Amino acid sequence: MTYAELAARLEVAGQQQVLAFWDELNDQQRTRLSAQLEAIDFELIKQLVQGEDAAPDWAALAAKAQPPRAIRRDSTDNEFSPEEAIARGEQALRAEQLGLILVAGGQGTRLGFDHPKGMFPLGPVSGRTLFQILIERLRAVAKRYGASIPLYLMTSPATHEETVAFLAEHDRFGLGKDDLRIFCQGVMPAVDAQTGKLLLAERDSLALSPDGHGGTLAAFVKEGCMADAQRRNIEHLFYCHIDNPLIQICDPQLIGYHLLASSDMTSQAVKKRAADEKVGNVVTVDGVTQVIEYSDLPPEYGRQTQADGSLKLWAGSIGVHTFRRSFLERAAGQKNSLPFHRAKKAVPYVDADGSEVKPTSPNAIKFERFIFDLLPLAENAIVVEVDASDAFAPVKNADGEPTDSPTTAKAAMVARDAKLLQDAGANIAEGVDVEVSPLWALDAAEAAAKCPTDEITEATYFV
Ligand code: UD1
Repeated sequence: MTYAELAARLEVAGQQQVLAFWDELNDQQRTRLSAQLEAIDFELIKQLVQGEDAAPDWAALAAKAQPPRAIRRDSTDNEFSPEEAIARGEQALRAEQLGLILVAGGQGTRLGFDHPKGMFPLGPVSGRTLFQILIERLRAVAKRYGASIPLYLMTSPATHEETVAFLAEHDRFGLGKDDLRIFCQGVMPAVDAQTGKLLLAERDSLALSPDGHGGTLAAFVKEGCMADAQRRNIEHLFYCHIDNPLIQICDPQLIGYHLLASSDMTSQAVKKRAADEKVGNVVTVDGVTQVIEYSDLPPEYGRQTQADGSLKLWAGSIGVHTFRRSFLERAAGQKNSLPFHRAKKAVPYVDADGSEVKPTSPNAIKFERFIFDLLPLAENAIVVEVDASDAFAPVKNADGEPTDSPTTAKAAMVARDAKLLQDAGANIAEGVDVEVSPLWALDAAEAAAKCPTDEITEATYFV
């Protein structure tokens, strides 16, 4: 696009301010800025700024919210039994119908780690990184079912290069070359909260940030992953976040419930430990399953209880879903299948005089899509409850915070692995840390034949 074309486009959009320093830029800088501008859907930005897709009335939705259709851990009248679910899930895994989408595009700001979160060393004894922990789990499941399970790993411009280099350096932690595709999600520009004008992060660059994990849908298609999944006859995609070391990757039971229910989208959930726990709430409103994020749920609705005193809105989303591939294709073909959420953030920018401004309070709006907003579009959506101690110990905050920190996640890993070893017959001395590589044993039954007979008296990594 020529300068004249670009300028004309920006004028129509009322966003000419981003060219304020054009005359001072060298060719390389001009190329960079114009490439960023050409990628922007100005019509969409205009709609978002004008609030044409305004957020729903969360309080009204919360008032009508009921618990979702679910398979509960302690219920005797579930629609399907765990045994039939496991058998069905294992069948699909053996038939190589599954792929894994792992999203790792977030910037880990709260954790205060300056690299992609997947590079965070979390193994309590081994020091394994999150990437290694999750990839080994995937390899162990694939090995058990004699199947290939491709990993589609999503990065963002902020994490892409370092992730690619890190995985190459470590030989993809043993994953076959053909079984890994790394794809990069898109970005959205931040706008000034008062004026709706695009902000410049530098004289030659817009203030851009990843478009949320909901960006997975568009990027999965655009980057050729959907076509790859089609070519491999992958019928279902297991989706999860990089920040949880306990994810039961490609769990046959979850996959089995998904298949038995003929569900387009099946979500794993934990029973919330507190009314204000910082997890999305999976609910049903007028028969439609959806997530109300913790920050959008008015506290009085979160606190409602059942006759037995338990929370009515019990289902806390842990960001683990299974999708039917044809459902993702359908949703990707629908223009606005995922709404944008707005977040007011402090975004550094270059002002009209060219001075750098570092605001201390929110000055800008960022736009993000959330993958769980696909739930309302899904046929036969169902929730499967899982025990948090077995499946959820996210790393969100820096050490020192009371919850969701590396320390709390490591303690949860040790507790889960100690239980696995004890169930397999091991005797662990009080206070001794243990860690089990899933490639050594995925469960207690597999560990039973290998467990040491002597008491475990020092920190041990079973590998
Ligand atoms: C998210 C969910 C919350 C759920 C919790 C479980 C949202 C808005 N909230 O909270 O309902 O209970 O997880 O842990 O999703 N990511 C990208 N690209 C992005 C943004 C995020 O790949 O543009 C990835 C991150 O790397 C991470 C995952 O998405 O793996 C979740 O991160 P984040 O958006 O920070 O969600 P949370 O607020 O932690």
